Amino acid sequence: MNGRTILLIVGGGIAAYKALELVRALRREGVRVLPVLTEGGAHFITPLSLSALAEETVRTSLWDLEDEATMGHIALSRAADLILVLPATADLMARAATGQAGDLATTLLLATDTPVMMAPAMNVRMWQHPATVANVATLKARGVEIIPPDTGPMACGETGPGRLPEIPAVMAALARHFGRAGALAGKHVLVTAGPTHEPIDPVRYIANRSSGKQGFAIAGALAAAGARVSLVAGPVSLATPAGVTRIDVETAREMAAACEAALPADAAVMVAAVADWRTEAAAAKHKKAPGEGPPALTLTENPDILASIAAHARRPRLVIGFAAETGDLIAKASAKRLRKGADWLVANDVSEGVFGADENHVHLITAHGHQDWGPASKASIAARLVQEIADAL
Ligand code: C5P
Repeated sequence: MNGRTILLIVGGGIAAYKALELVRALRREGVRVLPVLTEGGAHFITPLSLSALAEETVRTSLWDLEDEATMGHIALSRAADLILVLPATADLMARAATGQAGDLATTLLLATDTPVMMAPAMNVRMWQHPATVANVATLKARGVEIIPPDTGPMACGETGPGRLPEIPAVMAALARHFGRAGALAGKHVLVTAGPTHEPIDPVRYIANRSSGKQGFAIAGALAAAGARVSLVAGPVSLATPAGVTRIDVETAREMAAACEAALPADAAVMVAAVADWRTEAAAAKHKKAPGEGPPALTLTENPDILASIAAHARRPRLVIGFAAETGDLIAKASAKRLRKGADWLVANDVSEGVFGADENHVHLITAHGHQDWGPASKASIAARLVQEIADAL
């Protein structure tokens, strides 16, 4: 988003205070923010705080001679790469949907040919009222991108949909918006993440310590770069990254089938820690009976999803595997890359305990050798890998 300009219209709702946090996050990303505060918005936050954080003059009125002399409202409506309304109140959306232009915000929305995004926030009944539903549909039909509100407890004491999403989610939506014209626009990428669970009986299963964090970070970063992402996820308790299509599975065989169904893809990033073995699941729970000893579990090998995608008739152009090893990392991972038919292998040493952590230390192994990426956050490893994928595709 660095170098972009966003015209931010802050409407009159309690969530207006979150606009201040958003401005800080945008400025940190190198985004220029042109702030507009509606009359209602000014009841919740002050022009001074908005202007100080944005490091720009805040505009509040259509009738300010000085503002108009600096930049007329028509020019202002086209000065940004995006107009974002946050929070978008029921009233502001109703006026925008009916083409009114009685104040600066609605005039800008009517005069612009710039893409518009709105982040509605209001009481649950107002959000669900047929009038609001119809207005939102009208705005969407005209190409306005709506960031759907979250569900949860609200300032008014009620619970339901209508909360302004948290700022990181808004930032992700913005990154996705700009990413659409991004490096991976038009590409489809398959990602697997998390562990698999292989049932032993109705209550027990074989599992591993994979948290899914690295795979989810990669899926999110791919979507932010404009890719269409199919994320086949084993059982994990992580939120779906914005813009990602998630297919939840439990077992390796389900994961294999979901991957197959997701093809064709331009690239596949197989991050999941797939269980190597499964056992025949008993229909009833194994019982501890005196004198009988433990049940004998016979293990059967699971399909190797990475190897079969790499050998598939509809093989993605770029197939990337992951390898978690303990010791002798490069030699083991290089052999694995060849054995599985992957183009690249991202290898990490798990003797250092990366499971569930936010940090990782990986090496990228390709046909041309290996690079040590050093210790880094899983998010920055994801960003770097996505950059490499974009270059390769
Ligand atoms: O053989 P190993 O499990 O170490 O290989 C790791 C890589 O292979 C990862 O990319 C993982 O997602 C993939 N894999 C797979 N299906 C399996 C086992 C591993 O796709 N059954």
